[in-house]
Amino acid sequence: MQIVVATISHTPYAQIICDTIAESSKVRGTGIARRTPEYVISKMEAGNAVIALEGDVFAGFCYIEAWGHEKFIANSGLIVHPDFRGKGLAKKIKEEIFTLSRKRYPDAKIFGITTGLAVMKINSDLGYKPVTFSELTTDESFWKGCQTCKNFDVLTRTEQKMCLCTGMLYDPSKESKSTEKNTVKPPVFNRLKQIKEKLFLKKNK
Ligand SMILES: CC(C)(COP(=O)(O)OP(=O)(O)OC[C@H]1O[C@@H](n2cnc3c(N)ncnc32)[C@H](O)[C@@H]1OP(=O)(O)O)[C@@H](O)C(=O)NCCC(=O)NCCS
Repeated sequence: MQIVVATISHTPYAQIICDTIAESSKVRGTGIARRTPEYVISKMEAGNAVIALEGDVFAGFCYIEAWGHEKFIANSGLIVHPDFRGKGLAKKIKEEIFTLSRKRYPDAKIFGITTGLAVMKINSDLGYKPVTFSELTTDESFWKGCQTCKNFDVLTRTEQKMCLCTGMLYDPSKESKSTEKNTVKPPVFNRLKQIKEKLFLKKNK
């Protein structure tokens, strides 16, 4: 498996990346925003994306977005093709995009929002901490990206204070201060997810 910083040579994979994201986003409760091939290509051209390939077969992808005058960085659009899941690939892609983010934006806070236990576990291992949405970027264009998520109505109803996703933040200025390792406990996560779904998802959906 090859996991590399994507370049212009990877643009032919933009369509399958978007198709795989769109297919995965159909699952109710999964917070994942859709992207266009043009947007994905712009990330590849800027050197702000990581792609995983098995030979020439698409396996996974993730990209960087900068918000609030580059004070905040998001590692977004993580996707692993169903044929390659459960083998540790998402973890490797996230490690790669995290390293790239730290190199390109050393002073930025790195954050993500996710409904997935897998992503929470990976982020936690990288040093992210769960935070309220108020600690994330206030840049409206970031939150507009949620419009294509199935759960966007929840974010609107709560005036952007909470949603099914959990916010997680890596703050480089606090890096050396915290030594304890927080592990995500699956039963706690699943209970919290159930409570959120019960509270926020309308029954007729
Ligand atoms: C979420 C996703 C990226 C995980 O990819 P993956 O390559 O299967 O993940 P990994 O094998 O690297 O697993 C990382 C960790 O999460 C756990 N994990 C993986 N899938 C999981 C699942 N469905 N439920 C709970 N835990 C899971 C793994 O056991 C592993 O934990 P460990 O480090 O304690 O062993 C993939 O399922 C996917 O593309 N889903 C659809 C898109 C999506 O939800 N993207 C995230 C948007 S924020």
